[in-house]
Amino acid sequence: MVNMEVDLGGLKMRSPVATASGTFGYGFEYVGAVDYSKLGAVTAKGIRLDPWPGNQMPRHAEVPGGLVNAIGLQGTGVEHFLKYTVPWYRKQVPDVPMIANIWGGTIEEYAEVAARMGDAVDAIEMNVSCPNVKAGGHTFGQDPEVLCKVVSAVRAATKRPLLVKLAPNVPSITPYVRACEDGGANALSLINTIPAMVIDVETRRPVLANRTGGLSGRCVHPAAVKLVYDAHAVTKLPILAMGGIYEAKDAIEFFLAGATAVAVGTATFTDPGVVAAVYDGLTDYCERHGFASVAQLTGALSTE
Ligand SMILES: Cc1cc2nc3c(=O)[nH]c(=O)nc-3n(C[C@H](O)[C@H](O)[C@H](O)COP(=O)(O)O)c2cc1C
Repeated sequence: MVNMEVDLGGLKMRSPVATASGTFGYGFEYVGAVDYSKLGAVTAKGIRLDPWPGNQMPRHAEVPGGLVNAIGLQGTGVEHFLKYTVPWYRKQVPDVPMIANIWGGTIEEYAEVAARMGDAVDAIEMNVSCPNVKAGGHTFGQDPEVLCKVVSAVRAATKRPLLVKLAPNVPSITPYVRACEDGGANALSLINTIPAMVIDVETRRPVLANRTGGLSGRCVHPAAVKLVYDAHAVTKLPILAMGGIYEAKDAIEFFLAGATAVAVGTATFTDPGVVAAVYDGLTDYCERHGFASVAQLTGALSTE
């Protein structure tokens, strides 16, 4: 029997397999289609203070090995989320922790959303890949100083385990990891989508109404593994790894590179069974390789 429990910065998970924000609705939509007993946590779609319409359609484009999306963080707003979504989730899925994914246009807004969440959710994941209104539209996740400030503000607003979801498009992840440590984060989430663009050559127009979007799916996986490896090399913060997990092997790579837990994203759109298959494959791998617990896999990469 392999011990599959993990501790993700204070969030106790019975399974190291979670779902990635924006790819699993608000968590209850897959009841009947997914074996929730194999899930360690559900990450809900991003929530800000007020309802947000997202971008114009079209906002998806399939590409070889992945997907480019520009949903634009469409969401119901924190009030609706707390009044309807969370209670309904708890009723439908009583035994899987919920991680709320939050965002805002200002530091104050981030802190307010986190404060409003209170104890209603089990952990907070901050998406810092959105434009900072007060700093001329640069994303919070691309300036270590601003990142540290927004993480500190959210830290002061919540007692729940705090994860920071970092942008992958940076020259080195180290200053961003340090900013999260200094700001009081409990864990890191890696990676968010990679900025991308698809052009219809016949019309000579961008395929997405937003023109650009974020790349996810199988094609981002090796890039994500490297970022997890780089981050783990410079921090003791636990890492929730995501990016192109389609089978257990992909998740195992993340653990060996330094992840404490993993999240399945885009793969769920084509096969909701991936979550359970990843859990089963991980258990089997630990048994075959003599690991008594999945936690022993973290950083077990051999570089000899
Ligand atoms: C359609 C879609 C919506 C997403 N929405 C969010 C979101 O609201 N907040 C967030 O932090 N990440 C969001 N993401 C990013 C995913 O959570 C994940 O980090 C990324 O897709 C990489 O994992 P994957 O390759 O397994 O999908 C979204 C991704 C997709 C494809």
